[in-house]
Amino acid sequence: MESSSQTPSSSHVQNDMLTPKGQRKSLRVLFELVKFVQPYRGRVLAALVALIFTASLTLSVGHGVRILIDEGFSQQSSQQLASAIQFILVVTVLISIGTFFRFYLVSSVGERVSADIRLAVFNHVITLHPSYFETHGSGEIMSRLTTDTTLLQSIIGSSFSMAMRSAFMCTGAIIMLFATNIKLTLIVLASVPFVLVPILIYGRRVRALSRQSQDSMADVGSYAGEAIEHIKTVQSYSHEEQERASFATEVEKAFDIGRQRVMQRAILISGVIVIVFSAIAGMLWVGGSDVIHGVMSAGDLGAFVFYAIMVASSLATISEVMGELQRAAGATERLIELLHVDSHIVAPNQSAVSPQTLSAEVEFDDVTFCYPSRPDQAAIKQLTLTAEEGKVLALVGPSGAGKTTLFELLQRFYDPQSGKVTLGGIDIRQFDPSKLRQQMALVPQQPALFSHNVFHNIRYGNPQATDEQVIEAAKKAHAHDFVMSLPDGYDSFLGERGVRLSGGQRQRIAIARAILKDPKILLLDEATSALDSESEYHVQQALEELMRGRTTLIIAHRLSTIQHADQIAVFEQGRLADIGNHASLMQSSELYQRLVELQFKHLSH
Ligand SMILES: Nc1ncnc2c1ncn2[C@@H]1O[C@H](COP(=O)(O)OP(=O)(O)O)[C@@H](O)[C@H]1O
Ligand SMILES: [Mg+2]
Repeated sequence: MESSSQTPSSSHVQNDMLTPKGQRKSLRVLFELVKFVQPYRGRVLAALVALIFTASLTLSVGHGVRILIDEGFSQQSSQQLASAIQFILVVTVLISIGTFFRFYLVSSVGERVSADIRLAVFNHVITLHPSYFETHGSGEIMSRLTTDTTLLQSIIGSSFSMAMRSAFMCTGAIIMLFATNIKLTLIVLASVPFVLVPILIYGRRVRALSRQSQDSMADVGSYAGEAIEHIKTVQSYSHEEQERASFATEVEKAFDIGRQRVMQRAILISGVIVIVFSAIAGMLWVGGSDVIHGVMSAGDLGAFVFYAIMVASSLATISEVMGELQRAAGATERLIELLHVDSHIVAPNQSAVSPQTLSAEVEFDDVTFCYPSRPDQAAIKQLTLTAEEGKVLALVGPSGAGKTTLFELLQRFYDPQSGKVTLGGIDIRQFDPSKLRQQMALVPQQPALFSHNVFHNIRYGNPQATDEQVIEAAKKAHAHDFVMSLPDGYDSFLGERGVRLSGGQRQRIAIARAILKDPKILLLDEATSALDSESEYHVQQALEELMRGRTTLIIAHRLSTIQHADQIAVFEQGRLADIGNHASLMQSSELYQRLVELQFKHLSH
């Protein structure tokens, strides 16, 4: 257990690594791969046939060796020598053909299966509840999708078939050994435990270390990812030195674990070599004396040595591949773990009502909610609030009051701990979440753009939209003019997360996206906060048109935006402090007066 003082991020990993329980788990884990290989069982079967074919032929070379020595050299017959050589050549050609098929079939299945696993993991991850990603960083998940699946590709595609071939060869060679000389065989077999014990002991250590090694690689990846993502912040605060130092710590930690793993493997391999070759030397000693005393023919000893070398080299291969298999078992374990994470947000089993036909009235009914990462601090406290169909409800309040959280609950990214959110009078947990979300469009505080062009980003709101409809939406969002001034117009690439646009431009793209979605419910989270006054004025016009006839919840930071709302809800620390229209709130709510005084300028974020 000397490795249990590792990084905090790998602590969840250690408890099951070095225990017998962990071992059992590893077997079960590799079983899980069967499910992925099954669709290709035809190819696997063909590969198996090729494998048995080549292995049998390889073993038959031993017979060629016997003929070569006993009948070619000993009888000094050139004709026998020629036919023995011919036999070996023919067998060699057949082996190479068999190997071609085995290698191609097995490796292509490996590629296919790892691609399938990659798809399965991504398809699953993309459905998980958002709070999962608050505890599991994107770097970690990326490393599952790339590093771990690549590892699996290498074991399914080569290590596993090498292990199979070696196991088969080893068994076959042992049978041939018995057929050739029982006494010598027993000597060889007696040495097998000496080979297997270190493999098992060290193999376990290698496996534990390789899981840690993977984890620390993921740490390195996410560390670098974050620093690069925030490169301007890093440079503007002249933090390069600190970042270098912290990154170096991560890299060295990963290196250290990697070095330990390699060390264990090196010990394993060299130990096996010493043991195996000592055994062969012992065997030659005993066998050689038998030949000298005429108990055994020279050809038999030749064949025997050949088979013994087969046994030894298969065992060596197995011991080497074992390390790979252990690493792969670690990778499989993590992938399967990820595949088995259940989303907390699920669609009801059946009788899911379609929200499409219902009225677009939204109601929060005595809702209390804490974020999973902060279980003792309620972000929303006993909130009861109705947004009437087709009306505009403005949400105001200081930063951190819980306004954005309401939108998250309404889109069902989280479920409240008590109370319920309803749409058209029905608890939103009764809907299929994707159907629910189809009813709404959100313009978030920080618009999310994809590293693609303008068309793609706006069309995200409605994949079926024609180019004309996209452009129409962009015009309404007051984005058309600046889009046309980009180098390639609507085909301009926006960079990762839209870095090539200003905040206000990104916001207008997001508004165009929402316009294109044409939802029943519109959620605007400070949608115009990054705009200058002039574009805000125009976008405001567009939004007002957009709001017409839709249930709109608008988190607003400027008085001009909310003055015309049908209702204004004032929030403070997760509670509804007051509700009314502008005139009545100016009378009744001190907080509202204060917010109005400050024109909501610095308060909401
Ligand atoms: N993902 C999260 N995990 C934990 N706490 C959060 C999360 N998002 C927001 N919070 C907390 O919930 C409270 C309400 O946040 P939010 O709804 O974003 O406020 P705002 O009214 O400014 O939009 C804040 O105290 C914030 O720190
Ligand atoms: Mg907010």
